[in-house]
Amino acid sequence: MSEDHQTQWDVAVVGGGVIGCSIAWRLAQGGLRVIVLDKSDFGSEASYAAGGMLAPLSEADQTGAFFDLCVASRAIYSDFARELLESSAIDIEYRTEGTLYLSLREEDDEELDRRWQWQQATGLNVKRLGAGCVRKLEPGITTALRWALKFPDDHQVNNRLLAAALFESARLSGVETRPHTEVHQLLTESVAGKERVTGLKTSRGLILADRLIIAAGSWSSQVTSSTASTLEVLPVRGQMVAFEMPVQPLSHVIYSRRGYLIPRNSGCVIAGSTTERTGFNKSVTAGGVADILNHAIEIMPSTRELAITETWAGLRPHAHDGLPVLGKDPQIDGLIYATAHYRNGILLTPITARAISELVLEGDSSINLSPFSISRRTLRLAEH
Ligand code: FAD
Ligand code: GLY
Repeated sequence: MSEDHQTQWDVAVVGGGVIGCSIAWRLAQGGLRVIVLDKSDFGSEASYAAGGMLAPLSEADQTGAFFDLCVASRAIYSDFARELLESSAIDIEYRTEGTLYLSLREEDDEELDRRWQWQQATGLNVKRLGAGCVRKLEPGITTALRWALKFPDDHQVNNRLLAAALFESARLSGVETRPHTEVHQLLTESVAGKERVTGLKTSRGLILADRLIIAAGSWSSQVTSSTASTLEVLPVRGQMVAFEMPVQPLSHVIYSRRGYLIPRNSGCVIAGSTTERTGFNKSVTAGGVADILNHAIEIMPSTRELAITETWAGLRPHAHDGLPVLGKDPQIDGLIYATAHYRNGILLTPITARAISELVLEGDSSINLSPFSISRRTLRLAEH
């Protein structure tokens, strides 16, 4: 039996992606004894596969609690990046050129117009640009461009560096990190008729902890399956392709309705993505790559000449309604969820870390988490 069986942790975090590590870091800063367990290497799943766009105006379709959460996280990102640099000495390449959302076909106009209308009406920072203006900013974009929206405040980071910086910051703050340790079961006991967590059964022995945070991304439902929890998170595959540096390098993140291009500081460009329900299969497929290439070439025709340097796929953690699941379990004391960030987990990392660490350290969060409560699911199930 591992010696951990003797240690009583204040908090055990299941999952060492950007969500788990950022929460662990904040909790250790708050003086708690924290352990993070990952079945694999830290930051090697969705957090590694992502594009790193901080893009609520491109991704969200309407205002509301989710949009507000995204914008609140975006607003604290530059400070977050600075703090990570100070604590880990890793620069996460926070870039502020902004995002261009292109209309490339007549059929794109309606969607861009609709986006322009609601974002203008909400007072968001969005600009409408003619094709000539856009091509002055980005000469590599196709001459077929009709017009575009510019989102000056939708920025980007290098998500792989973000995962590394969070791991390092957590470790240096005293967080115990256990890679290649798979959580098999949550342990609970009944006290005066109420369930409370006591620890975890893992591939390397028992872990005793007063609170458990479920940050296991697409695997979160598997981790909680032995409890009465109603958590339902499913994987949605996204494939990606990276290219060598273009002749006319991009500076903005470029979006179309069918795909996106992300320039990296190294000079390479990342093209994405697909949205596929294929279970836990992370294969890169001919069809997926063909679609991504076609959409990338449509945006920037010179992509056709570029060497492909890497392809990969990752699993976005998706709840039934696409919203994250954040907050306490209503039935099991000490069980807390921080999962299902779907397409926006990189963007939502700072605000999730803030909300969940406040919940643990202060008993409540300054952010209203009720729209993201697991109970919204329970209510929905009860209604049908
Ligand atoms: P993960 O990074 O998946 O981490 C979960 C961890 O839990 C894993 O390391 C896993 O090994 C571990 N784990 C699972 N089961 C167990 C177990 N039983 N025991 C121990 N450990 C376990 N978001 C954005 O904001 N911007 C983007 O541009 C963006 N682009 C994306 C592009 C693609 C192709 C994909 C796939 C995702 C993208 N996302 C983006 C979404 C983002 O990547 C995710 O929402 C985010 O990474 C989720 O982080 P996480 O820490 O919850 O999950
Ligand atoms: N947010 C981009 C993606 O999930 O593909």
